[in-house]
Amino acid sequence: MIDVHAHLNFHKFEDDYDDVIKRAADAGVTKIINVGTQISSSEKAVEFAEKYENLYAIVGVHPHHADKIDLPSDWLEKLEKLCQNPKTLAIGEIGLDYYSYSSNGVVDPTLQKEIFQAQIDLAYKVGLPLQIHNRHAGEDVLEILEKNKNKLQKTPGMFHCFAGSKEVLKKALALGFYIGFDGNITFDKLAPGETVTLPDLAKLTPLDRMVIETDSPYLTPIPFRGKRNEPKNVIITAEFIAKLKDISFEEFQDQTDQNVYTVFDKLKAQNSKRKITV
Ligand code: NI
Repeated sequence: MIDVHAHLNFHKFEDDYDDVIKRAADAGVTKIINVGTQISSSEKAVEFAEKYENLYAIVGVHPHHADKIDLPSDWLEKLEKLCQNPKTLAIGEIGLDYYSYSSNGVVDPTLQKEIFQAQIDLAYKVGLPLQIHNRHAGEDVLEILEKNKNKLQKTPGMFHCFAGSKEVLKKALALGFYIGFDGNITFDKLAPGETVTLPDLAKLTPLDRMVIETDSPYLTPIPFRGKRNEPKNVIITAEFIAKLKDISFEEFQDQTDQNVYTVFDKLKAQNSKRKITV
């Protein structure tokens, strides 16, 4: 099983990431993709990818960090350099976030859109897919992606931690995006501001367009909800959705792992290269 979105590059893991990575491998997690949300955490994700064979990186600036204060003026050049690493698979998590956080509320939407657009342009330039973050901004995210249709890769990427309306799901699929689900699919209640449950959205998502993730340290699935999440728990989410889809865990794992190779070209290239050199 592959975890396509984790943050072992965050402070929450700085004391024990070695153990966390080992526990994931023992549980049957074959690859972990760590995702940046700022330049510093993107650099850290690439560092981890260089250090561990089964770790990969996605680099980018999260809309929540779009405030200029967080960004060095040469952020785009720095990001481009990180994209050249053979283990950097995509640009993410990028997109729009209209949720009001207790720390800094909602970052100016115009600024969020600028940062999003700059990173779509960069992805086009370096030939990478996108890993999209969308919170309560589905319509605007899709409008921007549709406007940039000609700049997207053949497989444009994936929506991370999908939530939203059936309409947003339909449009994201129509644009060619894959859909990521997390441990919050095991929660009983609908998240505030949402109208469709995650199990319902997963049922509507074709198996050959679905990928699974943890978003560690967040979104810990039941029965560990409340504790720090870690990549080994991606198995719990996969088992939960396999049951929803009424198929075996093995079949579910084979197909979703296959999907990851389709979304991330560079992962496929890396692994076939390794086979040849062995
Ligand atoms: Ni995340």
